[in-house]
Amino acid sequence: MVISFTSIRRVLNGDFDGKQVNVRGWVYRKRTGKKVVFVVLRDATGIIQCTVKRDSLSWDEAQKVSIESSVTVSGTVRSDGRAPGGFEISINELKIVGLAEAFPITKDQSEEFRRDVRHLWLRSQKMNAIMKIRSKVLKLVHEFFRKKTFIEVSPPMFISSAVEGGATLFGVKYFDRDLYLTQSAQLHLEVLIASLEKVYCIAPSFRAEKSRTIRHLAEYWHIEAEQAFATMEDLMRLEEDLVSHICQEVAKDCKNELETLNVDTKRLAEVQPPFPRITYDQAIEKLSKMGYKVKWGMDFGFEDEKALAKEFGKPFFVYAYPKESKAFYCKMYEENPKLVMSVDMIVPNIGELATGGSRIDDKEKLIVRLKEFGLKEEDYDWYIDQRRYGTTPHGGFGMGVERLLAWMLNLETVMETIPFPRTTRRYYP
Ligand code: 4AD
Ligand code: MG
Repeated sequence: MVISFTSIRRVLNGDFDGKQVNVRGWVYRKRTGKKVVFVVLRDATGIIQCTVKRDSLSWDEAQKVSIESSVTVSGTVRSDGRAPGGFEISINELKIVGLAEAFPITKDQSEEFRRDVRHLWLRSQKMNAIMKIRSKVLKLVHEFFRKKTFIEVSPPMFISSAVEGGATLFGVKYFDRDLYLTQSAQLHLEVLIASLEKVYCIAPSFRAEKSRTIRHLAEYWHIEAEQAFATMEDLMRLEEDLVSHICQEVAKDCKNELETLNVDTKRLAEVQPPFPRITYDQAIEKLSKMGYKVKWGMDFGFEDEKALAKEFGKPFFVYAYPKESKAFYCKMYEENPKLVMSVDMIVPNIGELATGGSRIDDKEKLIVRLKEFGLKEEDYDWYIDQRRYGTTPHGGFGMGVERLLAWMLNLETVMETIPFPRTTRRYYP
């Protein structure tokens, strides 16, 4: 006979009150009394309390079963105000599928230890909720761009020339050549817009970041978009619409997960466009009033961004940066070529969430900038070609998935938002 199993979420929804169900999952908690064993079961969808009574045929199995053992149970659902979630399963039969050894994770262990055993910590309710919201966010990004007729493209991970600064490039052996892991798909996306006009991708980016901070990973997932003929205002609108759309939908559809993570849905629902926009010069002025000294020409540091974000208390844009603070491809303002059309979105706690802007579309200007950065023209010949053959003004942006989640969910570090974080010290498991 084929047994059909029910998800715990459906039982908690009340669809089976008073009925017989089969559920399978893992033992989340267990408490043994004289007359009854309480077994809290978890599956992908939730946790539910189950009871095994002394006179049950499964009493011995219930004694034997350990935390994190996998089991199947059948029993009767009863609504019970005292049970977490309001329902309980009174078990007739409990079968151990895989008896677990003593589980190494217990209550009061450090975050460090949990990262050492990340492969097991992923079973926690916290990680389960974060991974579900991550999945939802990725789906929302796809829906958002597709609705706006952006075409999803798949950029390469092996690249032959740097996108961002050389300091964070990972080198890799590629047959008998030396290549790099990509830092950003931007240059390849720029080339693709001459065919598709509006493109996006969600792909890994790699950064050899030596600094250990709460917002840097060596491998992160990068939402990137590029659009032909786009202005700075088009880009800022696209970014704020994307972020607020994601926050609204997560607030609406992930209530259980947000509750598990103690995140106030109202805070997310309140993220609405337009986001404030200030120039780099205005940001410097604000900072100096707060007692922060930023030398004109330098990009902002984490502390500067946090201080600005505290004042706004929500996402905002800073644009028109000194050209020496940004990458070679940034387009200069005609009226003030010391400044480039680059824009950062900054959010509370995390600081920079996205960088974007208009790209140089003039061949000669691009070649001058490549030289100034000490980059070899021949390495970028394919990229210059775009300016040779039907150039257009254009722009785009990149946003880190992990920073987005860490900000949305009020998490201490981006490491909590990705199942297997990669940093200077962590590459296991
Ligand atoms: O500011 P970045 O370096 O900009 C670019 O790579 C552009 N080429 C993007 C573009 O215009 N298409 O990186 C973009 C975003 C950052 O704002 C941040 O959210 C994230 O990527 N990011 C990181 N996230 C986690 N760990 C790191 N080491 C990150 N470096 C950048
Ligand atoms: Mg940046």
